[in-house]
Amino acid sequence: MKHFIEVSDFSKEEIISLIEVGQDIMQNPAKYGDAMKGRLLATLFYEPSTRTRFSFEAAMLRLGGQVIGFSEAQNSSVAKGESVKDTIRTVACYADIAVMRHYLEGAPKLASVYSDIPVVNAGDGGHQHPTQTITDLLTIQMEKGRLTNLNVVLCGDLKNGRTVHSLVKALSKFENNTFYFVSPKELKIPDYIKNHIKDSLFFEMESLEDALPMADVLYMTRIQRERFADPEQYEKLKDSCVLTKHKMILAKSDMIVMHPLPRVNEISEDVDSDPRAVYFPQAKYGMFVRMALILKLVSEKENSAENHEEHRHELYSSCSNPKCVSNHEKLEKVGFGLLDKENHVYACEYCDTYYAV
Ligand code: CP
Repeated sequence: MKHFIEVSDFSKEEIISLIEVGQDIMQNPAKYGDAMKGRLLATLFYEPSTRTRFSFEAAMLRLGGQVIGFSEAQNSSVAKGESVKDTIRTVACYADIAVMRHYLEGAPKLASVYSDIPVVNAGDGGHQHPTQTITDLLTIQMEKGRLTNLNVVLCGDLKNGRTVHSLVKALSKFENNTFYFVSPKELKIPDYIKNHIKDSLFFEMESLEDALPMADVLYMTRIQRERFADPEQYEKLKDSCVLTKHKMILAKSDMIVMHPLPRVNEISEDVDSDPRAVYFPQAKYGMFVRMALILKLVSEKENSAENHEEHRHELYSSCSNPKCVSNHEKLEKVGFGLLDKENHVYACEYCDTYYAV
């Protein structure tokens, strides 16, 4: 059975197919109106959300299916101490597919191991957000007409911005894309992402003004207050990358400005009326591509294709990342995937924390 926990769960061809089905749904919605009749989607949101939860729920309803779930885990038996493992085993008794957002890195991955239904990662801590990525790819395809030969400027909290991590991994599968990572030095893109895209050209910078003239796609992100242990550090960095109408003068006339939203201060509202600003259409595209994803996962479950299990090594009994789900659930073992044979680099199977052994 297939889950969607990270972008690499799907081949490039599968991602392109999702985008094409999303486009077909946009053009022919009536064709899909009963496709999920009699089916149930469960939304398990342990963290706040507007776009991801509503777009998944709207997607299932527009496919003729129905929705159950919680938007505040404290209203479920999680408040009594129920584990992620037991929650998903229970939900799988009732629903055909589950969508999980969690504050712990790797929680949807862990859920997928114990689930009899497809599990979708709707964002796990500061780690990954793969359904935002398929939203972003559909947006780029619709607005730029291609997913190749792009200069992509990513700006903001690149350390904690899970949407950036997943998008960069996905865009690196397409030819000749160049990445410009713009952030304060405290919020740089993680090493595991740079390692993943080592065959692509990328640059790390601190000035948005320097990167802007190059951009075909500008991907703005918010500084993620909820991921900071030190509030003073957040106050220091919160306005380090701000796009204004004045700065837009530096950009190409056919550049697009994207943002996964919510925005705080990083795009001033006077940019909204610029035709290059596509962040609200982007939120709408998310529903169509999530419809395509639900169709794919539920129909593949019925065809019962087995997952390809990667070999994992038992290097340590636990992961050193305190935000990793493996430190919050009772697990017999934690696996570590081999990333770089020559340099003996491994990564935690849940949160991707690196270990050079
Ligand atoms: N883009 C995104 O994940 O938005 P929400 O947090 O509102 O779901």
